[in-house]
This record gives sequence, structure tokens and C-alpha cells, in this order.
Amino acid sequence: MSEAVAVRPGAQAGGGRTHRLGVIGGDGIGPEVTRAALTVLDAAESRFGFTTERTDVPLGADNYLETGELLSDDAVGLLREQDAILFGAIGSPKVTPGILERGIILALRGALRQAINLRPVRLYPGVPTPIAGLTPERCDMVIVRENTEGSYVGGGNTVHRGTHAAVATQGSVNTWYAVHRAVDFAFRLAEQRRGRVTLCHKTNVLVEAGALWTDVVDEVAARFPGVEHDYVHVDAMCMHLPVAPERFDVVVTDNLFGDIITDLGAVLQGGLGVAASGNLNIEGSAPSMFEPVHGSAPDIAGRGWANPAGAALSLALCLASLGEGEAAAAVESATAAVLADLPALSGAQMGASTAGLGERIAAGVAQGADGAGLGGASTSLMTQLAAVQAGLAS
Ligand code: IPM
Ligand code: MN
Repeated sequence: MSEAVAVRPGAQAGGGRTHRLGVIGGDGIGPEVTRAALTVLDAAESRFGFTTERTDVPLGADNYLETGELLSDDAVGLLREQDAILFGAIGSPKVTPGILERGIILALRGALRQAINLRPVRLYPGVPTPIAGLTPERCDMVIVRENTEGSYVGGGNTVHRGTHAAVATQGSVNTWYAVHRAVDFAFRLAEQRRGRVTLCHKTNVLVEAGALWTDVVDEVAARFPGVEHDYVHVDAMCMHLPVAPERFDVVVTDNLFGDIITDLGAVLQGGLGVAASGNLNIEGSAPSMFEPVHGSAPDIAGRGWANPAGAALSLALCLASLGEGEAAAAVESATAAVLADLPALSGAQMGASTAGLGERIAAGVAQGADGAGLGGASTSLMTQLAAVQAGLAS
């Protein structure tokens, strides 16, 4: 396969930059937080002189119950035409748990070849964290989760289901190709940051997959003499993350371990409401998809209690991937500044509604107090991502 470009920059239309944006609000609080993020996007467009052509793609529980289809070929086709996708959340008590998640989120990650799930774990100044004594200086890492394999696609089988003779097997797929993509990306990113990659796995027990990951890390590391690397078992990771997060710069890990440790990472940074992610297609063969890490939270849907920060920070990652680095940095900073002022990070105690917070973040973007929310001189992940993408494209 030939090297494709890594970015999908917008067309230059009428002297301005235009990006096609697929929007999947989804279920529960997904549409609310996505609407808030789009208000922020409006402000970013006016200030930074680009436009988006937005296409709503109605996926989720209601669409499934109406049409019987989780993800039609037409929907995938429409999404494929976009430059990027903003995703709210999927999952509903109206549908058996797992059906929508596997049939839509996981299916899209695979269909659109979104090889990397990028999950920054950054504690912004003034944001309350449940970890006593943790400061922003000590918590700024990125978890690079392999996004298409591992036990998520291993397949399995059960015989004698529902009886005491039941036997269930569940596999895990690990290809050199996908592991290499994730590890190579992690080293490229670390090169732009503090120069440290940590492999997180369970090599003492999962010896086959573990050896493949370790071999790939050793192979890639040889090409990046300026990047240090080390290894931490996933169980030990759960101890180190809350106690000594400053140890980590870029963590690269398998799909399932990444799923688990990024929820813990989200806790460090103030909770799931704040955590952002990007499902990155690093070949440029299909759009990347940006989603808050929180789920659809049906229990609080429609009340304005959801924090749109995760969605806004996902928008920032989206803008960075579209080459709108300045806008990305402004959205990140404005979101952090608004977070710092909140009495609580979600629920009725937040002191403002989801939409109200979207407007506040948008106002921050419009006013341009960039950097204010980030506590000074720290380099932005948004700039680092742009550099990595430029490297991949060359
Ligand atoms: C996530 C979610 C998904 C995952 C679920 C909804 C399938 O937990 O994005 O972290 O396991 O990847
Ligand atoms: Mn998860």
C-alpha cells in the first residue's frame, strides 16, 4: 500500500477554508453536548476565518429502532465523504447493552480505519481532581490506545451456553501492522513532547501478544534515539496513574487495556465529563472521529446537566487534525478557563446548563484570551499533533 497523506485538509473555497464535518449526536446526552460543541465551533469559525459544511448523520437507538439498521452502507458512505466527524455518544436503555456500541462505535472505528484512539489525560489548572495533592504540572500525558484489534475483534464461541457445562472462549487479535501503527505514532508524538514512551501491557501472562508488542516497541525505538522508553504492566499502571502520573508522557497500549486505563485517566483530570478523544485515521484514507470519553448518560439526558467540556476538547482535537491549529488551541484554552470556574464538574451543582457552558466557552474563544486557561507556557497537544501529522504525510 502506498503512503497516503495523513491530513484531510479542507478545500480552499472562495478564498476561505472549508471543512466537511459529519455530526453524529447519537443518544442520551450526546446531542446536547454536541450542540454545545457546535456553538463553540461557530465562534472558532468567525474568529479564525474558516467554515464548516455540517452534515447530521442520525445514528443511534432511535434510528435503529425505526429502521432496524445499526449502520447502513449509506451512512458509512456519507461519513466517508467528510473531512472529520464529531461524535456525541451512543447507548440507550431502549436497546440491549452492547448492540449499539458494537454495531455503531466499534463498527465505525473499524470501517473508517481509525487505527489510534488518542486520549489526552491533562489536569487543567483550577479543575478539582479526586487525587489528593495532584497538580497540573504533574498530570499531562497522552494515552495512545490501539483502536481496531485486541480482544475487541478476537471472536469467540460458547458451547453448552446457559448450562453448567458451558465453555466460552474469547480470542484476541494482534497484528504486527496495527501494533506497529500505534507504536510508531506514539514515538512520533513523544518526540514532540517530553520524549518518553511507556508500553502498557501484561506481558507476564499474555506472553504471545506481549512479545509482539515488546518486539515492535524495540524495533521502533531504534529509529527514535531521542525518545526513551519503558514498560509497565497494566495492573501496576492502575497504581502508578493516580500516585505518580508525572512518570508518563506518552503511553501506548492495547485496545482493552487502553479502554480501562483511560477511564482511570479521566478520573485524574476531573472526571469523564472532561475527557476527550480522537479516533484517528492516520493514513488519510477516511475521516477521523472525535468523541468525548463519557457515554450517553441516559439518566441525566435532557436536563442540561452534562458537562460539554469533553465534547469541546474533542472538537479541539478535531480542529487540530483539520489543520486549524490556532482554533484548536483557542478552544482548548477557553474550555479550560471555563472549567476552572465551575463549582462542580457535572449535574445540577455545575451552576450552569450544558448549553450555557457551550456559550461561555464560545465567548472565551471569541474574546481570544488564549493560553489563559492553560496555566502559561505549556505546549499544546494541538500543536504537537499537527507536527506529527505533517511528519506522517511527508
Ligand atoms: C470507549 C467505550 C467503548 C469502548 C464502548 C462503548 C464500546 O467504552 O470508547 O471507551 O469499549 O471502546
Ligand atoms: Mn471505555
